[in-house]
Amino acid sequence: MKNILITGASTGIGAATATTLAEGNTVFVHYNSSAEKARAVADEVEKLGGKALMVQADLSTEEGCRALMGFVEEKVDHLDLLVNSTGGMVAREGIEEIKWATMEKIFALNVYSAMMVTSLAVKLLKKGNDPSIVFLTSVAQRHGAPTATVYGASKSALDSFTRGVAKELSPHIRVNAVAPGVIVTPFHDNVSSAEKLEQFRKACPLQKNGEAKHIAETIRFLMENDFIHGETIDVNGGMYMR
Ligand SMILES: NC(=O)c1ccc[n+]([C@@H]2O[C@H](COP(=O)([O-])OP(=O)(O)OC[C@H]3O[C@@H](n4cnc5c(N)ncnc54)[C@H](OP(=O)(O)O)[C@@H]3O)[C@@H](O)[C@H]2O)c1
Repeated sequence: MKNILITGASTGIGAATATTLAEGNTVFVHYNSSAEKARAVADEVEKLGGKALMVQADLSTEEGCRALMGFVEEKVDHLDLLVNSTGGMVAREGIEEIKWATMEKIFALNVYSAMMVTSLAVKLLKKGNDPSIVFLTSVAQRHGAPTATVYGASKSALDSFTRGVAKELSPHIRVNAVAPGVIVTPFHDNVSSAEKLEQFRKACPLQKNGEAKHIAETIRFLMENDFIHGETIDVNGGMYMR
């Protein structure tokens, strides 16, 4: 039985990860604004034989990160897995239109949230059984994404953080990342039109966009394989090949 904290578990990749890892485990289903969706995920976790604990926090603020980890510390004495799935593109802006406020939002949501939650979670993870951390980066950090340049750069920051933290926490805690390609989730609702998603699909060698389960299964693999450390796994249908 594992204690698992998934940030951004109300929708998309975080939600799919919560249900994929539910059986026999305690899963913290973190959300910010989608309480009803988080409730549905928590119900599904329980149906699948897990124990779900819902927790609300705005992780784009330091107080929110501290509130989340305060709640977790009250409920469990150790953590076995932390999945930092909270994130989003916030807005598409061409290079000449980039606004300071947008840059701050993108970095707070994607980078500072994961850095702060990770920092605060280390003491519980150190008491876990083969504990590990997974970050969600992006294909956008790999191949350059026009109009999502700040978002791509924020994911590069997390990619670098993954390796730094992996070295610092060795040999006690394994640290890895998954870099998804285009995954059809609410992530795209405000930033990618149906036409844009179709362009992405055509640009993918496998001629399809991914589903949240493709990423959730990769996170399960990273949790279970105790010889993978400091790695970023690309899951993108061949859109980016090294
Ligand atoms: N989908 C893709 O194509 C794709 C590609 C590459 C990388 N990724 C990365 O994968 C991760 C998951 O994305 P997804 O596709 O699952 O997106 P999603 O369905 O939009 O889920 C985003 C999650 O983040 C939470 N969130 C948003 N603002 C928050 C805030 N201020 N504080 C705390 N939580 C907040 C949302 O919670 P509420 O709804 O409850 O507010 C939701 O649970 C992200 O880091 C994203 O950058 C996604």
